[in-house]
Amino acid sequence: MFKKMNPLFIFMLWAVFLSIQADPVEDKQALLDFIAHIHYSRPLNWNKEASVCSSWIGVACNSDKSRVIGLHLPGMRFQGPIPHNTLSRLSALEVLSLRSNAISGSFPLDLVELKNLTTLYLQFNELSGSLPDLSVWNNLSIVDLSSNGFDGSIRSSVSKASHLTALNLSNNLLSGDIPDIDIPSLQQLDLSNNSLTGIIPKSLERFPIWIFSGNRNLSSTTPGQPLNAQPSKKAKKLGGPALLGIIIGACVLLCVLIALLIICCSSKRRNRQRELPENTQKKEISLKKMASENHDNNRLVFFEGCNLAFDLEDLLSASAEVLGKGAFGVTYKAALEESTTVAVKRLKEVASAKREFEQQMEVIGHIRHENVSALRAYYYSKDEKLVVHDYHDLGSVSALLHGNRGESRTPLDWETRLNIAIGAARGIAHVHSQNNAKLVHGNIKASNIFLNSEQYGCVSDIGLASVMSSIPPPIMRAAGYCAPEVTDTRKVSQASDVYSFGVFLLELLTGRSPIHATGGEEIVHLVRWVHSVVREEWTAEVFDVELLRYPNIEEEMVEMLQIAMSCVVRVPEQRPKMADLAKTVEEIRRANNGNRQQSFETTSETSGSTTFPHVGAETTSTSTTPL
Ligand SMILES: *[C@@H]1O[C@H](CO)[C@@H](O)[C@H](O)[C@H]1NC(C)=O
Ligand SMILES: *[C@@H]1O[C@H](CO)[C@@H](O)[C@H](O)[C@H]1NC(C)=O
Ligand SMILES: *[C@@H]1O[C@H](CO)[C@@H](O)[C@H](O)[C@H]1NC(C)=O
Ligand SMILES: *[C@@H]1O[C@H](CO)[C@@H](O)[C@H](O)[C@H]1NC(C)=O
Ligand SMILES: *[C@@H]1O[C@H](CO)[C@@H](O)[C@H](O)[C@H]1NC(C)=O
Repeated sequence: MFKKMNPLFIFMLWAVFLSIQADPVEDKQALLDFIAHIHYSRPLNWNKEASVCSSWIGVACNSDKSRVIGLHLPGMRFQGPIPHNTLSRLSALEVLSLRSNAISGSFPLDLVELKNLTTLYLQFNELSGSLPDLSVWNNLSIVDLSSNGFDGSIRSSVSKASHLTALNLSNNLLSGDIPDIDIPSLQQLDLSNNSLTGIIPKSLERFPIWIFSGNRNLSSTTPGQPLNAQPSKKAKKLGGPALLGIIIGACVLLCVLIALLIICCSSKRRNRQRELPENTQKKEISLKKMASENHDNNRLVFFEGCNLAFDLEDLLSASAEVLGKGAFGVTYKAALEESTTVAVKRLKEVASAKREFEQQMEVIGHIRHENVSALRAYYYSKDEKLVVHDYHDLGSVSALLHGNRGESRTPLDWETRLNIAIGAARGIAHVHSQNNAKLVHGNIKASNIFLNSEQYGCVSDIGLASVMSSIPPPIMRAAGYCAPEVTDTRKVSQASDVYSFGVFLLELLTGRSPIHATGGEEIVHLVRWVHSVVREEWTAEVFDVELLRYPNIEEEMVEMLQIAMSCVVRVPEQRPKMADLAKTVEEIRRANNGNRQQSFETTSETSGSTTFPHVGAETTSTSTTPL
């Protein structure tokens, strides 16, 4: 058998094998040389035997893992100068971040070799001497050399760094006149707290005046403008009093919001459909404001394959935005640096003891599957529990389905909905196979399902239900995904996951939230509503009107409806198993691929009353689930 194979083919297989195994050997050596010659006092998992690209903290590789392109090592307590001829050998490097260390000496001139460098973060170190000539890097876009000890003047050649978008030189000892910096792409500039002199050049008058503050002998051409005014409120980092003001402001706002919410709820019966189930407020905040100062010396615990390097301090001081509020806590989007964004969930009421919590996190943290959103890290202390996940920039399926139902809405097409269902089914099936096939997701809903890079569904928020305090049934029931037999949220099961998945499929098909108000007063549970429509007459009314514009998908929709109905039967034992469901959902496409090609008598795009084939007796008889 082996002899018959073409030797070239074997060679190619071998080459493919090698390229999969390959690690950027020379980059690896350069990094090892770097840490061998610099002092640091935080643990670094740079094991010689391990793969640079998939397990070394702080290292990012290109897509084929042949080169190192990013190095993020903030707050590692590096001390002393950057050793010569080490980092400069990472010739494909694009992002270098060594901020918040104690690196001293002059700027390492050999970094000129990094021709592809786009981002340089060296702020909060002890570098001294003159500034490097920024024009030697063609692609340089973001430079932060602030809070160091650089002296000398700013060279006029800086104007040749024509791709710069952000330059921060504040808090140094720079002197002399400010040159004309004529870079149209430059959006952020900070020269404050130096010893610059002379007159602010015309080319820089477009920037707010506070970026020049703290330079005693600098004058502005526009009279009457006080140079040393406090930075305006637009500044990213805020000082103590301003922050306090915002905190108080936010608290007041929160109280008002809660009051409004209570008023809204009491008059809700009169309101029409409220589609958005989760909080959609977008406000920049800092996670720190609610964190207590006492971190019990606990550390963020990272899982393998996480090459993000940040510490709790970074996480808490990152600018954050509320992504959503769920029963288990509030989720924030935290931007650690230009290129690193994570989703952080602050858990409300964890019932488990530390040991139990850690065990559960270990199980979840080791799941790596394309349809499961990876848990990257967690934090547990007496008064703060955090879980850190990948951030998905397309947003949750809930936002895609229900968000912005106005004129400017991009409809979620059938193809994508099917991919979401397939991905979610595969992801949940994988979760169910973990921990000796005992792991339960416990909180399946559209706001916990995201799109992965292939635009398939990807499930998040796994396994939290069993470590959290139980949520009172009325609140839980209100969410609409909860199986009827679950009376305690800590007692979820794989069968109740299947029920929730069924509700999610119905949501994809109907475009309706699991709990919604119909024209009248009554609040309707999606499962009951679908049953009632199906019982009366099998019409297109059950499907999302948005889907009616796509031709030849009726059979697929009906198939998915059948699958969904089989998941939401009342008796847990009668529900299908997730592994089988993953297969049947995939079958929807496979079985109908042929049909799609052949020309159908397409139903009119606007018609909402097309009669659909009857699904058969068994679906209707599983119904009548009074909830
Ligand atoms: C620099 O980036 C370009 C474009 O991404 C790439 O083609 C080139 O190989 C990179 N240079 C090095 C030395 O890696
Ligand atoms: C950097 O600039 C060079 C020349 O301007 C270009 O060839 C290269 O592709 C750029 N690299 C990246 C990563 O953009
Ligand atoms: C520049 O860096 C300092 C810290 O060194 C920071 O306080 C300031 O906000 C930064 N400026 C801008 C415009 O981001
Ligand atoms: C400038 O220095 C003052 C006093 O040391 C400090 O309060 C202020 O935050 C500094 N400005 C920036 C932008 O870092
Ligand atoms: C500002 O100018 C005065 C006199 O013009 C000089 O005595 C002083 O040293 C200068 N201060 C700085 C910070 O350069």
